[in-house]
Amino acid sequence: MAESSLHAELRLLIPAAQIRDRVAELGRHIARDYPDGPLRLIAILKGACFFLSDLARAIERDVSLDFMGIASYGRSKTSSGEVRVTKDLDNEIAGLDVLIVEDIADTGITLNYLYQLLQQRKPRTLRVAALLDKPSRRLKPVDLAYIGFQIPDQFVVGYGLDYDDRYRNLSDICVLVDGPGEDVVR
Ligand code: IMP
Ligand code: MG
Repeated sequence: MAESSLHAELRLLIPAAQIRDRVAELGRHIARDYPDGPLRLIAILKGACFFLSDLARAIERDVSLDFMGIASYGRSKTSSGEVRVTKDLDNEIAGLDVLIVEDIADTGITLNYLYQLLQQRKPRTLRVAALLDKPSRRLKPVDLAYIGFQIPDQFVVGYGLDYDDRYRNLSDICVLVDGPGEDVVR
């Protein structure tokens, strides 16, 4: 909570200790669900990096990592509806158990697109782990196999999540209540 209390525009939503406990729990579930065979974790840059690094260490089995870059909202808080791949995977995923690791499922547009894209590459299985889920915002269906926390329709930052590339390195997840634009809290 220390860092977030330095920012007047932030309201604590999920403290770091709660994130740590939940990520550890998700790691145990994932290890149990994939008892053997290679498991490839694919993180969506940049927001999912913090979640990935903690989750990967909480999964007590061999995993391999890859990264995919997707065009972000930038300064806007609503999706343009267009998804653009800015960095593709380094390695093929055909025949592998693949878990997409994402920071948040909001409209679902990004994950819906990515799921279809990766499915075409013939992984053995393809699932999604999202740290946060804002179900009330969904426009496109996404099947989330693992969810950290369901949250209300508020714009959050911290633990990888940004506003205009700020706040990613906060340890807590906070609601941006008095940020640069009046539309910050929908
Ligand atoms: P979607 O395509 O609308 O589901 O958007 C997913 C992406 O939007 C996430 O990967 C985030 O980068 C961004 N996003 C959505 N909601 C938030 C939020 O509350 N805070 C920060 N980023 C968000
Ligand atoms: Mg973002």
